[in-house]
Amino acid sequence: MALTTLGLELPTDPRWVNIAEMNIGDILIDHAYCEQKAASSCISLIVQYSDKAELVEVLTPVVAEEWGHFQRVLKELNKRGIPLGRQRKDEYVNQLRSRLRRPIGDPKEQLMDNLLINALIEARSCERFKLLSEHIADEGLRKFYRELMISEAGHYRNFIELAETYLPAERVRERWKEFLAVEADIMANLDVRADRMH
Ligand SMILES: [Fe+2]
Ligand SMILES: [Fe+2]
Repeated sequence: MALTTLGLELPTDPRWVNIAEMNIGDILIDHAYCEQKAASSCISLIVQYSDKAELVEVLTPVVAEEWGHFQRVLKELNKRGIPLGRQRKDEYVNQLRSRLRRPIGDPKEQLMDNLLINALIEARSCERFKLLSEHIADEGLRKFYRELMISEAGHYRNFIELAETYLPAERVRERWKEFLAVEADIMANLDVRADRMH
């Protein structure tokens, strides 16, 4: 999955994957919560937009997939005797949410923003999983992250396509560019941390 395919402007700092590998327990804990939040976020969208049949149809199986990912990460933690522990502060997602928030009158624009933020987190997660799948030594985890990378790339497309279902593609592209620019700026200023997936 190339960066250009995902649209991301800034590649992950190459130091990240090395320090992440040395701290794989913390990475797995943070990853477990990323999957939990992905499932929760899809459930919230389904509840908020229950009148949008296509959104409900597309996102319902995504909830199950994300929850399946959560279960698989838990299994990797259990194998290593690492307890799940408490959720950590998600600086990346918090910054995305606060910087991309805007006063919106039009519910369609709000729907688009809600979908695109999910697409963005999927795209970045996909890029990180790719790095893990290519660079870490543990063969089992490489395979694990390769499979998850493919799944998250599918979710990224789901969110973009849903946005294009409810809004003109041109408008989605325009707003997506703004999202990408903000994300790149956040990435450039965020500390490279050994204990966070993002
Ligand atoms: Fe996932
Ligand atoms: Fe996902």
